[in-house]
Amino acid sequence: MPAGFSSDQAGAQWWRDAVIYQVYVRSFADANGDGIGDLAGVRARLPYLRELGVDALWFSPWYPSPMADSGYDVADYRSIDPAFGTLAEAESLITAALEMGIRTIVDVVPNHVSDQHAWFQAARAAAPGSPARARFWFHPGTGEAGELPPNGWRSIFGGPAWTRLKNDDGSSGEWYLHLFAPEQPDLNWDHPDVRHEHEDVLRFWFDRQVAGIRIDSAALLVKDSSLAEEDSDRPGEHPFTDRDELHAIYRSWRVVADSYPEPRVLVGELWLPDAQRFARYLRPDELHTAFNFDFLACPWEPGRLRASIETTLAVHAPVAAPATWVLSNHDVTRPVTRYGRLNSAFSFESKREGTPTDLALGRRRARAAALLAMALPGSVYVYQGEELGLPEVEDIPAARRQDPMYFRSNGVDPGRDGCRVPLPWSGTEPPYGFSPPNSRSKPWLEQPGNWSELTATAQESHADSFLGLYRAAIRIRHDEASLGGGALQWLPSDPMVIAFVRGADFGCVVNFGPEPVALPAGAQVLLTSIDVDDECLPSDGAAWLRLPRPVEKESR
Ligand code: NOJ
Ligand code: CA
Repeated sequence: MPAGFSSDQAGAQWWRDAVIYQVYVRSFADANGDGIGDLAGVRARLPYLRELGVDALWFSPWYPSPMADSGYDVADYRSIDPAFGTLAEAESLITAALEMGIRTIVDVVPNHVSDQHAWFQAARAAAPGSPARARFWFHPGTGEAGELPPNGWRSIFGGPAWTRLKNDDGSSGEWYLHLFAPEQPDLNWDHPDVRHEHEDVLRFWFDRQVAGIRIDSAALLVKDSSLAEEDSDRPGEHPFTDRDELHAIYRSWRVVADSYPEPRVLVGELWLPDAQRFARYLRPDELHTAFNFDFLACPWEPGRLRASIETTLAVHAPVAAPATWVLSNHDVTRPVTRYGRLNSAFSFESKREGTPTDLALGRRRARAAALLAMALPGSVYVYQGEELGLPEVEDIPAARRQDPMYFRSNGVDPGRDGCRVPLPWSGTEPPYGFSPPNSRSKPWLEQPGNWSELTATAQESHADSFLGLYRAAIRIRHDEASLGGGALQWLPSDPMVIAFVRGADFGCVVNFGPEPVALPAGAQVLLTSIDVDDECLPSDGAAWLRLPRPVEKESR
């Protein structure tokens, strides 16, 4: 049992109402001045994370990688990329965080490996039909000379999902499947080696005190081996998404996770439109939780948000899994920018830059959204920089961009670099303390020149800053017994207002309308996202309240 934690049931269920902070190492803090964030940088900033009050850190992939997809192309699952540090540093970081009461979650990427991974290197060197190739999806092409891909599946990053190999003699060979970039060949989960290897990787990290894993692309692992085309939308019939055989994989992972004195936690990255299908992964012997992307993708609109909350809670209840509330991550437009747009919904298909954006409006809404998310039942994810209110950076020069989404769409899709810009810590100009003074290299992505007021240091001393709001909200969330798990009851309200009670008397009110609304009579204000005058909550504001009892709740 790690230092500082008991094995009692409450400790073992920590994930049910935790605040989990996503560390995107490359952009968090650079200790050695090469312009790339590293583990020593995270280590030095642990006091900041403790002060923020988070329960756990989720590290995006930190493994050796050629970085064709920023680490989601893993060359070796049991080590650390030299740009970030060493395995010994990772181990001592995990321990140091635990000593501060902060658990660690690592990112496991089971759908694919890097094309530099030993298995793929062996596969490409081996002959068609060989055992080394059977761990991947190698197929002859179609067309007269095999010049066409095996089928019409499309890569999620754009373009065909198949790439043809060259044989040693220069002739064209077999095709292999990659649902993402060509540098990310898909593993064949029908192969026993693939299953054993991943269970072993889980144990490798769980043995190093890691409290859980985030499972990348969790709905994609299993493929229809007949390579049927993508022409069915019926649940479970898509050739590579949400196939029923996935559940057996996660059941076997759950056995591994449950074999530890403090059971390890499995968190799924599941982008699925059907909430019922999503919840099947959260049955008691499968994953513990999964990211709630439906809530993230909602526009700033009370009807849509309330419906999303209701559906989320309704589908989680029968499987007894806690909901999760996510406003951002390293793949999506930063909330301050998203909510400042006329169309404030998120989708990869519609993601574009240069859309008119009212950042002041976006900031107001993102602050209110944070109080909304943190008052809901379940756990909360905070992506680094969200607590600073960073906007999306939309003017990164083409030559500096890194994301394959940008390149594979020929620049039509701006990609995800804009939410991955290195954090501003202090000072009035780049690198804002991200790298040490007089570093030899600039940050790997340029930071805007106008971020001096967004640095952690600039915000630290202002209670009404973004950071001040996040700190206060997380503190209240921890102290308030009725937050975290437990029921939610809606309060009767105007359709442009979302209002609910947690426990006996904790109230949350969010005003989406253009006019201020009166707060419930007799309520004591605990925290607001915006200045409140005369007990009126302004447009796009949220308030946490201690309600007078008895509270009139909506009957349903
Ligand atoms: C989801 C990750 O969050 C994203 O960043 C990555 O590109 C894909 N999975 C592929 O691994
Ligand atoms: Ca560095």
